[in-house]
Amino acid sequence: MQLQLRYHVAITAAYRMKKFVLSRLFCRLKFKRLLLLFALITFILLMVPRLNHNSKKTYQHSDFRSGDYKRKYNGNIIKTAGTLENKVHCLSWCQRKTNSNDLYFLSAVLLVRIYSSDLAKLSTRELIQWLYYLSYAGFEHVYVYDAYVFKNESQKDALDFFIKQGFVTYVDWSHNAFPYTVTKTQESAYQDCLNKWGNLSSWQASIDIDEYPFCPQDTKPNFMQRFITNFSEQRPDVSQITMQNFLFLGKPLDDRQHPLLIDRLKRRTHGPANALVKPIYKTEDVSITHVHHHDLKKGKSEDADFYRIRLNHYWGARLQNWGEDTAEILVKTREDITMEGIVKNLAQCIEVCLPSESIIYKFRWN
Ligand SMILES: *[C@@H]1O[C@H](CO)[C@@H](O)[C@H](O)[C@H]1NC(C)=O
Ligand SMILES: *[C@@H]1O[C@H](CO)[C@@H](O)[C@H](O)[C@H]1NC(C)=O
Ligand SMILES: *[C@@H]1O[C@H](CO)[C@@H](O)[C@H](O)[C@H]1NC(C)=O
Repeated sequence: MQLQLRYHVAITAAYRMKKFVLSRLFCRLKFKRLLLLFALITFILLMVPRLNHNSKKTYQHSDFRSGDYKRKYNGNIIKTAGTLENKVHCLSWCQRKTNSNDLYFLSAVLLVRIYSSDLAKLSTRELIQWLYYLSYAGFEHVYVYDAYVFKNESQKDALDFFIKQGFVTYVDWSHNAFPYTVTKTQESAYQDCLNKWGNLSSWQASIDIDEYPFCPQDTKPNFMQRFITNFSEQRPDVSQITMQNFLFLGKPLDDRQHPLLIDRLKRRTHGPANALVKPIYKTEDVSITHVHHHDLKKGKSEDADFYRIRLNHYWGARLQNWGEDTAEILVKTREDITMEGIVKNLAQCIEVCLPSESIIYKFRWN
């Protein structure tokens, strides 16, 4: 506008001057204008890719999230810098990148049946919570073997988000579900996973949805990968690391105030509750799968020091017949709130990492 005006004025003035002066002035003005235009274009060319790059860096993972999040945060980079830092931090663990070679350092395999008569009430909600926790812990992929007996127990739809995200491989295992036997239902699932996809993971853990691997001294995202890396550096001879079993017992807190299973139970056995360890194994060294110790082609199997890693096993009120806490249970257990930091981190990242809060909080069976 201003430019145009100036140009206009200049032209009108120029008409009144001699031809010589007119053309000189005209040239100078034109030159100035061109210079300005050039500067403007240069500025735009320099800045646009920069802005573009910034927003790409910040939002490249936003495509799987709800539109809500985008609406709230897409507009204002500077104002929400603090919260965006949190978002980026969350995305650093919950957004799985597919490597060019599609290999995982660490995966898990699960054999599960979710059924509404389960007294432990391990529902679809708890399944999703467990997957979310594994993602935090540093598992890059989970093979879910769904041993449903009735069609309405299938978890396929419930897992849709994680399947599409590439975090879960869903396997319909219903043909081996009934009658349940350890060999035909459970061990066969682990073996199938090893045979089909074993070579895609360096390490794998076979665990249940009430079993949470936990490193007491390291609760930051990706702690499992750090633990395994450290352990195998010190003990390259070990092909199977077994996690000792700490039972979390007692009457759970109200699930409306404490929707996360790991936030409902805060008392655990003083030490390992029994010999029922669970394995993390180098897939290439395993021959035959079992529940607690797989058979190895080579390498040693060793219990890990439970100060470094253990299995938090959320049994709840099972040993008290699903009733009130007994004196016996209280003696058997001690308070343990070391999971609180992770609970907080998980809650803080829901908005960023999951399509909705209800997927992880809402009680349901499929
Ligand atoms: C699924 O179907 C079975 C058998 O018909 C029934 O007993 C059970 O309650 C159903 N479960 C759900 C969650 O609807
Ligand atoms: C894994 O093994 C299958 C055959 O069982 C083979 O086709 C595939 O290329 C292997 N993948 C890798 C990454 O080694
Ligand atoms: C590895 O683990 C040992 C034993 O827990 C610990 O002392 C050491 O600091 C760890 N090293 C790294 C790099 O984390």
